[in-house]
Amino acid sequence: MAHLNLGVFISGRGTNLQSIIDACEAGKIDASVAVVISDQAEAYGLERARKHNISPIHVPVGKNNTPKYDEADRRQLEILREYQVDLVCLAGYMRRVGRAVLEGYAEAILNIHPALLPSFPGTHGQGDAADYGVKVSGCTVHLAWPKFDTGPIIIQAAVPVLEDDDGDSLADRILRQEHKIYPQAIQWFAEGRLQIEGRCVTVKDARPPTIAEAIISPGLEI
Ligand code: GRF
Repeated sequence: MAHLNLGVFISGRGTNLQSIIDACEAGKIDASVAVVISDQAEAYGLERARKHNISPIHVPVGKNNTPKYDEADRRQLEILREYQVDLVCLAGYMRRVGRAVLEGYAEAILNIHPALLPSFPGTHGQGDAADYGVKVSGCTVHLAWPKFDTGPIIIQAAVPVLEDDDGDSLADRILRQEHKIYPQAIQWFAEGRLQIEGRCVTVKDARPPTIAEAIISPGLEI
């Protein structure tokens, strides 16, 4: 596939958006961000877009299943078409994507989630993992399906959970990996290397996992 036009959906500070913009500008991925759409007028991610001459668009979204929600869904699709977006990247977008966008971009919407799905779906992945007491957590880039946090998994990174971690410290460790795996997933999409069968994704000619065979946490002593 040729150069990709990305449409990034955000609700907040937009550090993942920034990592995508940086990867595009550095030529690490064959893509550029054409438009940033936020449901929050004050999202700092919109400011990041402005700084890089990317159109920042605020689309207020009403409550799920209301006419205002459907209207926003249609408006978002219109914007994506207007900017000739090839791939939608959800990057900290805290709302459900509506049916028009899901159908208009079937198999062309990615999401990043701050836990190792299918564990800890929902809006508090890092805190839930820390509270549960798991020893390893991480992040996941997956294709967005209508049901939240369920779509086919493209790439995951695992990090250790340390004894004195709370949700925030774990979130920081995970976030650093999010910034690596999201641009990578986009590049594989751009290269047409994602083969999707049911809910399983294969990356054509993928390298062996980075780092090691396994992360074992706490560390082995024998
Ligand atoms: C990230 O942890 C992402 O995984 C989750 O929301 C957070 C967004 O952070 N979906 P940012 O706005 O990209 O900094």
